[in-house]
Amino acid sequence: QIIDGQGGTVAPALIELHAHLREPGQEVKEDLESGLAAAAAGGYGTVVSMPNTSPVVDDPATVRALIEKANRLGFARLRPAAALTRGQLGEQLAELATLKEAGAAMFTDDGRTNEDARVLRLGLEYAGSLGMVVSVHAEDASLRQGGVMNEGVVSEELGLPGNPGAAEAARVARDIEIAALTGARLHIQHLSTARALDLVREGKRRGVPVTCEVCPHHLTLTDEALRGFDAMYKVAPPLRTQVDADYLLQGLLDGTVDCLATDHAPHTRAEKEQDLLSAPFGIPSIEVAFPLLWTRFGEQLGLEKLLDLFTGGAARVMGWPEPGLEPGQPADLVVLDLNTERPVDPATFRSKAKFSPWAGQPLRGWPLLTLVNGQVAYQRQ
Ligand code: NCD
Ligand code: ZN
Ligand code: ZN
Repeated sequence: QIIDGQGGTVAPALIELHAHLREPGQEVKEDLESGLAAAAAGGYGTVVSMPNTSPVVDDPATVRALIEKANRLGFARLRPAAALTRGQLGEQLAELATLKEAGAAMFTDDGRTNEDARVLRLGLEYAGSLGMVVSVHAEDASLRQGGVMNEGVVSEELGLPGNPGAAEAARVARDIEIAALTGARLHIQHLSTARALDLVREGKRRGVPVTCEVCPHHLTLTDEALRGFDAMYKVAPPLRTQVDADYLLQGLLDGTVDCLATDHAPHTRAEKEQDLLSAPFGIPSIEVAFPLLWTRFGEQLGLEKLLDLFTGGAARVMGWPEPGLEPGQPADLVVLDLNTERPVDPATFRSKAKFSPWAGQPLRGWPLLTLVNGQVAYQRQ
């Protein structure tokens, strides 16, 4: 079979460690079909989905059903994350060994942060004994309180309840100590502050097995975006300051940040059009992440480094084989058009969330073709 690459640049398909695909139970926001088609259109060959669904993904049968359904669809490959604890909130650990057997990629508290340090310790010990990663949302809920945006100059000016950077740093510090105690692999999700990045850097220097990801929105947007009181920009953790965003970019350059992850968090338009206090947290971005970062930071990072943050970096976090293009093997690859500028057009999104903070922005780096397991999962018309 000969496939026309349309003159683009060939790279291993991107790997997403953090997406909310909303199945089961929240299909009005997204489902496997729309979410994995969106991922393929974004250049991704593999997606780790978060378990904060209804019901929570905390049992082997659900993990198996999700993987089987995704395989039938033929878009990006699905590797579901399972909840670390039953119902994702409680004291009782989920059956991690049987979840691993069923195909769970990692264990996480994302979306329903677990407060109990002892539960995290036990979870890390158990997951670690299975060779599995625990990824954590890493926000202290009591410090976060009812904050709807970053606590700082802008939140004070706007009179909106703030969520301080300290809520993240305090939790990251605690979790790194627990990882050090257990020796098990801890992954910090959607790290958003300079302070927390310093804590990860120090943890790594000490030899603690800690990794972290950052998201496109924390690199390209700040709390200034909330001045229009638009809940499109309401996300957890919140958009921070330019100082934080610049610091995260430095973290990409110096290797403290292991990988990029979108935290693609689709909600319905009606939900996101509510006022800031009522609307849910989350920004959808899986279809624009690569073009956005290539256009904004391609020059500073270089193509090789940027691609590594989208592929090899994520694989190393998970302990997966280095992504590559093996002759004779069915390929997971993406063909990228690095040069042609096209505006972000949410109406064309495969995701059910047809809105974007970057709508209308001219970006380069759009995928032309995505192959998953040697099969066409996306081809631009
Ligand atoms: C996520 C969601 O919508 O599920 N929202 C978000 O703002 N990030 C939950 C999460 O990632 O914690
Ligand atoms: Zn989260
Ligand atoms: Zn998330």
